[in-house]
Amino acid sequence: MDKFVIRGGNPLLGTVHVSGAKNAALPCIAAALLTEDPVILENIPQVRDIETTRKLLSAMGAEVELGYGRAQHRTSICAKKLASPEASYELVKTMRASTLVLGPLVARCGHARVSLPGGCAIGARPIDLHIKGLEQLGAKITQEHGYVEARTDRLKGAEIVFDKITVTGTEDLLMAATLAEGVTVMRNCAREPEVSDLADLLNKMGAKIDGIGTSTLRIQGVEKLRGAKHRIIPDRIEAGTFIIAGALTGGDLNVAGCDTKHLDALLDKLREVGVKIVSNGNSVRVMGDNPLKGADITTEEYPGFPTDMQAQFMALATQAEGTSVITENIFENRFMHAQELLRMGANIKIEGRRATIKGKSPLSAAAVLASDLRASASLVLAALVADGETIIDRVYHIDRGYENIEEKLRGVGAQIKRIGEMLPKRGTASA
Ligand code: UD1
Repeated sequence: MDKFVIRGGNPLLGTVHVSGAKNAALPCIAAALLTEDPVILENIPQVRDIETTRKLLSAMGAEVELGYGRAQHRTSICAKKLASPEASYELVKTMRASTLVLGPLVARCGHARVSLPGGCAIGARPIDLHIKGLEQLGAKITQEHGYVEARTDRLKGAEIVFDKITVTGTEDLLMAATLAEGVTVMRNCAREPEVSDLADLLNKMGAKIDGIGTSTLRIQGVEKLRGAKHRIIPDRIEAGTFIIAGALTGGDLNVAGCDTKHLDALLDKLREVGVKIVSNGNSVRVMGDNPLKGADITTEEYPGFPTDMQAQFMALATQAEGTSVITENIFENRFMHAQELLRMGANIKIEGRRATIKGKSPLSAAAVLASDLRASASLVLAALVADGETIIDRVYHIDRGYENIEEKLRGVGAQIKRIGEMLPKRGTASA
């Protein structure tokens, strides 16, 4: 298993480029199941979750080509023949977002069999709202042997009100509704930029979706969708992670190729903390020469402060003057990084969904364990300012969602290396 070895103390200087958003790429790849024609996607990040999705679609009979060389961030998916509309446990267990194929498969094939994702390191993460919504669209759902099976002659438009805001739930049902007969109105939808990116792709494919970017989506179902070409939006969480890295290390870092309007909640909070930021639409320059002071955050659905940036913010809070309180509202068990930060010398107290961080703790290098994707990012950040050499184990978590993070960080002055087995080359099998 790969590990990162990071020697702290270097300020990050220069320019780092942001990749395409994993969380937009995943539903957009699933959307290709809705048509017989090829869908071409650009700015696809080279991360393990994308490789898992490629395998998932290939196992169903879709042709998925990943570009090489200069076209390496491009993928072409043709789901003309779908021999087996099924997502196996083997793949779903490694990536919960695999459930995104449920809606498109049942809409296109009239049948889908998808493994239940099971527990997840950051909480229970059920898919009851996906299932309830599909039932409202007329699918008959059964659950057996750990699988959800959905069947229908054709889905029928309906009014769906989400009990709780869910990102992949909104995306799953949005895809299903595009091929349903009649009109679907979905209320209390997630408004994340990744949902809007998917909706934009679907409209290019011939769907009729109104209300994009709002909490009410209105979908006029169509008989068929066609192929399309689409460029995935930049990854706002990767961008945010680098912005915090620049601030934390007292660097002068230009985070290029992001969409700064997706980063408002984070940038506002960082300004409150005292970070100097200049943003100009598609890049953010962060200057870490100001003293940092603690601030409170509460994670919320977009446009609030993202839960996917909570762990990284905690690493920053350990180095700010005074006390910061973090309230995690989205997932019930998302403070696993705190235990590891404590081992590096941080002063953090957890009570239920609230973490209280007393800042200005000198961090010292330790052997630590990555427990989930964003927790790993927080440990990388802490290691960049820790005294000595930190070893982070289980970096496969970070490989799920960050493209070449060690190369990108090394390019701006960090001392980071990967040891152990290397990531498999694209298109080859991976564990
Ligand atoms: C997506 C993101 C993930 C991010 C999360 C919240 C992808 C691939 N992943 O995850 O990075 O952390 O949004 O911004 O886009 N819930 C239910 N029933 C359901 C579905 C969700 O109760 O059927 C609950 C969840 O347990 C959680 C909350 O709703 O407490 C939000 O979850 P959701 O928005 O669905 O997260 P994901 O879509 O899995």
